[in-house]
Amino acid sequence: MRVGFAAAAFLGFALAACAAPNAPPASPEAVSAGAEVEQQMRDDGRAIAEAQCAACHAVGPYGASPNPAAPTFRTVLSRYRADVLEEELINGVRVAHPMPEFQFNPQGVDELIAYLESIQEAPAPQP
Ligand code: HEC
Repeated sequence: MRVGFAAAAFLGFALAACAAPNAPPASPEAVSAGAEVEQQMRDDGRAIAEAQCAACHAVGPYGASPNPAAPTFRTVLSRYRADVLEEELINGVRVAHPMPEFQFNPQGVDELIAYLESIQEAPAPQP
Protein backbone atom coordinates (compact mmCIF):
# COMPACT_ATOMS: atom_id res chain seq x y z
CA MET A 1 0.00 0.00 0.00
CA ARG A 2 2.53 2.57 -1.10
CA VAL A 3 -0.07 5.24 -1.78
CA GLY A 4 -1.51 4.98 1.72
CA PHE A 5 1.92 5.21 3.24
CA ALA A 6 2.79 8.24 1.17
CA ALA A 7 -0.47 9.91 2.14
CA ALA A 8 0.14 9.24 5.81
CA ALA A 9 3.68 10.53 5.54
CA PHE A 10 2.45 13.63 3.79
CA LEU A 11 -0.27 14.20 6.40
CA GLY A 12 2.29 13.90 9.17
CA PHE A 13 4.51 16.38 7.43
CA ALA A 14 1.62 18.81 6.89
CA LEU A 15 0.60 18.60 10.53
CA ALA A 16 4.13 19.27 11.67
CA ALA A 17 4.27 22.28 9.38
CA CYS A 18 0.98 23.58 10.73
CA ALA A 19 2.06 23.18 14.30
CA ALA A 20 5.16 25.31 13.89
CA PRO A 21 3.51 28.76 13.96
CA ASN A 22 1.72 27.80 17.16
CA ALA A 23 4.87 26.77 18.92
CA PRO A 24 4.49 27.14 22.68
CA PRO A 25 5.83 30.38 24.18
CA ALA A 26 9.24 30.45 25.74
CA SER A 27 9.43 28.63 29.05
CA PRO A 28 8.94 30.76 32.17
CA GLU A 29 12.65 30.41 32.90
CA ALA A 30 13.40 32.06 29.58
CA VAL A 31 11.42 35.16 30.47
CA SER A 32 13.85 37.68 31.88
CA ALA A 33 13.50 39.01 35.38
CA GLY A 34 12.96 42.44 33.84
CA ALA A 35 9.87 41.25 32.03
CA GLU A 36 8.50 39.81 35.26
CA VAL A 37 8.97 43.13 37.02
CA GLU A 38 7.19 44.88 34.13
CA GLN A 39 4.31 42.44 34.38
CA GLN A 40 4.11 42.95 38.13
CA MET A 41 3.99 46.73 37.66
CA ARG A 42 1.18 46.44 35.12
CA ASP A 43 -0.78 44.20 37.46
CA ASP A 44 -0.37 46.64 40.31
CA GLY A 45 -1.29 49.53 38.03
CA ARG A 46 -4.45 47.77 36.96
CA ALA A 47 -5.36 47.22 40.61
CA ILE A 48 -4.94 50.97 41.25
CA ALA A 49 -7.03 51.84 38.20
CA GLU A 50 -9.75 49.41 39.21
CA ALA A 51 -9.82 50.70 42.77
CA GLN A 52 -9.63 54.44 42.09
CA CYS A 53 -10.66 55.17 38.53
CA ALA A 54 -13.13 52.49 37.45
CA ALA A 55 -16.16 54.24 38.95
CA CYS A 56 -16.04 56.61 35.97
CA HIS A 57 -13.52 55.32 33.43
CA ALA A 58 -13.48 52.08 31.49
CA VAL A 59 -10.11 50.88 32.76
CA GLY A 60 -9.83 47.61 30.83
CA PRO A 61 -9.08 46.77 27.21
CA TYR A 62 -12.74 46.95 26.19
CA GLY A 63 -16.11 48.26 27.34
CA ALA A 64 -17.62 51.71 27.76
CA SER A 65 -16.93 54.09 30.66
CA PRO A 66 -19.54 54.07 33.44
CA ASN A 67 -19.44 57.88 33.22
CA PRO A 68 -19.94 58.64 29.52
CA ALA A 69 -17.94 61.87 29.89
CA ALA A 70 -14.85 60.00 31.09
CA PRO A 71 -12.63 58.73 28.27
CA THR A 72 -11.70 55.07 28.22
CA PHE A 73 -8.23 54.37 29.57
CA ARG A 74 -7.29 52.42 26.47
CA THR A 75 -7.28 55.69 24.53
CA VAL A 76 -6.03 58.31 27.01
CA LEU A 77 -2.40 58.13 25.96
CA SER A 78 -3.31 59.10 22.42
CA ARG A 79 -4.14 62.55 23.84
CA TYR A 80 -1.89 62.63 26.87
CA ARG A 81 1.81 62.02 26.87
CA ALA A 82 2.65 59.40 29.46
CA ASP A 83 5.36 61.50 31.10
CA VAL A 84 3.11 64.55 31.36
CA LEU A 85 0.30 62.52 32.86
CA GLU A 86 2.74 60.90 35.26
CA GLU A 87 4.00 64.26 36.45
CA GLU A 88 0.52 65.65 36.92
CA LEU A 89 -0.67 62.66 38.87
CA ILE A 90 2.37 62.77 41.15
CA ASN A 91 1.82 66.46 41.75
CA GLY A 92 -1.83 65.90 42.54
CA VAL A 93 -3.01 67.90 39.56
CA ARG A 94 -6.51 66.95 38.67
CA VAL A 95 -5.65 66.32 35.04
CA ALA A 96 -8.02 69.01 33.86
CA HIS A 97 -11.22 67.32 34.81
CA PRO A 98 -13.91 67.06 37.44
CA MET A 99 -12.69 64.05 39.29
CA PRO A 100 -11.74 63.66 42.88
CA GLU A 101 -8.27 64.82 43.72
CA PHE A 102 -5.83 61.96 43.89
CA GLN A 103 -2.54 61.81 45.63
CA PHE A 104 -0.23 59.17 44.29
CA ASN A 105 3.23 58.26 45.30
CA PRO A 106 5.66 58.03 42.38
CA GLN A 107 5.69 54.27 42.42
CA GLY A 108 1.91 54.05 42.25
CA VAL A 109 1.91 56.42 39.30
CA ASP A 110 4.65 54.44 37.56
CA GLU A 111 2.52 51.37 37.92
CA LEU A 112 -0.58 53.10 36.67
CA ILE A 113 1.26 54.46 33.62
CA ALA A 114 2.81 51.08 32.89
CA TYR A 115 -0.66 49.59 32.95
CA LEU A 116 -2.10 52.33 30.74
CA GLU A 117 0.67 51.84 28.22
CA SER A 118 -0.05 48.13 28.11
CA ILE A 119 -3.71 48.57 27.15
CA GLN A 120 -3.54 51.38 24.59
CA GLU A 121 -5.32 50.55 21.36
CA ALA A 122 -2.78 52.54 19.37
CA PRO A 123 0.86 52.92 20.34
CA ALA A 124 1.52 56.09 22.32
CA PRO A 125 2.95 58.88 20.20
CA GLN A 126 6.69 59.29 20.58
CA PRO A 127 7.87 62.65 21.85
C1 HEC B 1 -15.72 60.67 39.59
C2 HEC B 1 -15.43 60.23 38.26
C3 HEC B 1 -13.96 60.02 37.85
C4 HEC B 1 -13.00 59.29 38.51
C5 HEC B 1 -13.12 58.50 39.81
C6 HEC B 1 -11.79 59.40 37.70
N1 HEC B 1 -12.04 60.18 36.60
FE1 HEC B 1 -10.67 60.67 35.15
N2 HEC B 1 -12.12 61.71 34.18
C7 HEC B 1 -13.43 61.85 34.55
C8 HEC B 1 -14.15 62.67 33.57
C9 HEC B 1 -15.63 63.02 33.63
C10 HEC B 1 -13.20 63.03 32.59
C11 HEC B 1 -13.40 63.90 31.37
C12 HEC B 1 -13.30 65.35 31.78
C13 HEC B 1 -13.26 66.30 30.64
O1 HEC B 1 -13.12 65.86 29.49
O2 HEC B 1 -13.36 67.50 30.92
C14 HEC B 1 -11.93 62.41 33.00
C15 HEC B 1 -10.73 62.56 32.29
C16 HEC B 1 -9.54 61.96 32.63
C17 HEC B 1 -8.30 62.12 31.92
C18 HEC B 1 -8.08 63.01 30.71
C19 HEC B 1 -8.32 62.24 29.47
C20 HEC B 1 -8.26 63.10 28.25
O3 HEC B 1 -8.37 62.52 27.18
O4 HEC B 1 -8.08 64.30 28.34
C21 HEC B 1 -7.36 61.35 32.54
C22 HEC B 1 -5.90 61.17 32.13
C23 HEC B 1 -8.00 60.74 33.67
N3 HEC B 1 -9.32 61.11 33.71
C24 HEC B 1 -7.37 59.91 34.56
C25 HEC B 1 -7.97 59.37 35.68
C26 HEC B 1 -7.29 58.50 36.61
C27 HEC B 1 -5.84 58.05 36.48
C28 HEC B 1 -8.19 58.17 37.56
C29 HEC B 1 -7.98 57.28 38.78
C30 HEC B 1 -6.82 57.56 39.58
C31 HEC B 1 -9.44 58.84 37.25
N4 HEC B 1 -9.27 59.56 36.08
C32 HEC B 1 -10.60 58.78 38.01
C33 HEC B 1 -14.02 61.32 35.69
C34 HEC B 1 -13.36 60.57 36.64
